[in-house]
Amino acid sequence: MNSWQSLRVSSIAPSATLGMTDKVKQMRALGENVIGLATGTPDFDTPSYIKESGKLAIDEDITYMVYTVSMGLPELRQAISNKLKIQNSISVSPDQILVTIGVKEGIFNAAQACFNPGDEVLIPTPTWVTYDACFVLAGVVPVFVQSNAANNFKVDPEILESKITKNTKAIMLNSPNNPSGAVLDLETLSAIADIAQRHDLLVLSDEIYEHMVYGLSKHISIASLPGMEERTLTLNGFSKSYAMTGWRVGYVAGPKAIIKNIAKIHGHSVTCAASFAQKAAEVALTGPQDDLKKYIATLHLRREQLVSGLNSIPGVNCLSPDGGIFCFPNISSLGMSDVDFSTYILEEAKVSSLPGSAFGPGGDGHLRMNFARRNAEDIDEAVERIRRALMKL
Ligand SMILES: Cc1ncc(COP(=O)(O)O)c(C=O)c1O
Repeated sequence: MNSWQSLRVSSIAPSATLGMTDKVKQMRALGENVIGLATGTPDFDTPSYIKESGKLAIDEDITYMVYTVSMGLPELRQAISNKLKIQNSISVSPDQILVTIGVKEGIFNAAQACFNPGDEVLIPTPTWVTYDACFVLAGVVPVFVQSNAANNFKVDPEILESKITKNTKAIMLNSPNNPSGAVLDLETLSAIADIAQRHDLLVLSDEIYEHMVYGLSKHISIASLPGMEERTLTLNGFSKSYAMTGWRVGYVAGPKAIIKNIAKIHGHSVTCAASFAQKAAEVALTGPQDDLKKYIATLHLRREQLVSGLNSIPGVNCLSPDGGIFCFPNISSLGMSDVDFSTYILEEAKVSSLPGSAFGPGGDGHLRMNFARRNAEDIDEAVERIRRALMKL
């Protein structure tokens, strides 16, 4: 019998993040009390004024019951254009912005629209699991550029440049980084911008954690650097900043001709992002930002709490992440692989995490743990459970 399985789908692995989320759901359905630190979902509620605007759009306005303009609601694209100018120093008009079903759709369709089979894209690692799959599905060869804990997982521009071949077409950046929390500073971004210009490369910059920066770290958009606007796709969305993962709204902004090509694929594959979710996204950007400020202040505290909790466990060494919502502790001195350790604490301590090796070269020996929890007690409880589980070994 035919297996109806394409070579394309055989070339990628299922999402490690979603796999763990499903496993935790199954354990909870069986009555297990699992503290879930594995997912990329902030454990916060979408601010009420945003929820209300989505409900109002459904209840009161027929225009939100039909497809929107495929590129996205004009008022949302205008709000994004204003936001990018004010917060990110990027000048793009609304017709240079495509509203997508999250950053994921933006990356997937950008990979389809910008590259040909055999093209290479440089991806600094450890890296979010989805980039690799999106490029592979487009026939693109992902070329990993490993960074490591010794330099706080920052991309080394020299190593990056050494990986360039005649097939290299782009660099995939993610700052603040998932999973390592690394935030690229101006010096590093300028060096990468210089490389991109000298080698005529496109830069895809996923800035979904832009507001989650701690201490002296500052988020800088590479598209704002001289000469970069014409060769950068800035990807961002509402999932993390406004706790709107399930609403599924994101965007990609960049040179008009490229956005038009991505929009062609978007139009045929999804038509548009959900209308009322787009309305809520517009209100997220134009409404009061107090909830965002409170949420970031809470994340500062949770980050400190998880870092110090993990460092109090013998054998666990956790750097303080400069950005993002994850701790990335090194557990290699415990004498277990990251996969075995993650499985052990799930089964024994009922704490979910992701093994660092799921995030590509340089990630092994680490765990990824989400500290974006609304309740401080969850973090203390998770740390104590891990400590007790380790004492049993
Ligand atoms: C780096 C990064 N980019 C994008 C996403 C997904 O974004 P969205 O929900 O907008 O598709 C995630 C989610 O975990 C992420 O970690």
